[in-house]
Amino acid sequence: MTEEMIKNAQKNAHEGNYENVEFKLGEIEGLPAKDNSIDVIISNCVINLTPDKLNAYKEAFRVLKPGGRILVSDLVTEEEIPDDIKNSFQAWSECIAGAMEKNEYLDTIKSAGFSGIEIVEQHYFTEPNMDERLIGKIISIQVKAIK
Ligand SMILES: C[S@@+](CC[C@H](N)C(=O)[O-])C[C@H]1O[C@@H](n2cnc3c(N)ncnc32)[C@H](O)[C@@H]1O
Repeated sequence: MTEEMIKNAQKNAHEGNYENVEFKLGEIEGLPAKDNSIDVIISNCVINLTPDKLNAYKEAFRVLKPGGRILVSDLVTEEEIPDDIKNSFQAWSECIAGAMEKNEYLDTIKSAGFSGIEIVEQHYFTEPNMDERLIGKIISIQVKAIK
């Protein structure tokens, strides 16, 4: 994230008269929030971009209040994806190279301390001009869990 993104979000909130929102610059590996202070975390297609997903989920667990919840949308894989795609910068920026195998991803959430882990929705992810070796291997999931 960048300062410019925060400024843009503040501008949009101001224009929309949203007064009960606050934007903080931070990384998912080190959230700018105190322990046990957050009710709900939502995230869309960010966690797959960190090489250390366990650390990101441990951070989410740290800042949530007991009984706090997460709802995360992310890309995961169903099988191994080819090495040349895994090592491609473009695939990283498209959130594919960093995607973890689905069961390993769910185990990671559990290892971070969460319970009640449940996939709420999932579907195969495709996009125009996608490498055909990826078809049927990338899944978009929405997962919820509780601290
Ligand atoms: C695919 S976009 C998703 C953006 C947004 N959640 C949405 O739904 O439109 C990924 C975002 O993750 C941010 N990002 C990537 N790595 C991050 C990290 N380690 N910590 C925090 N944000 C990160 C990027 O700046 C980018 O804005």
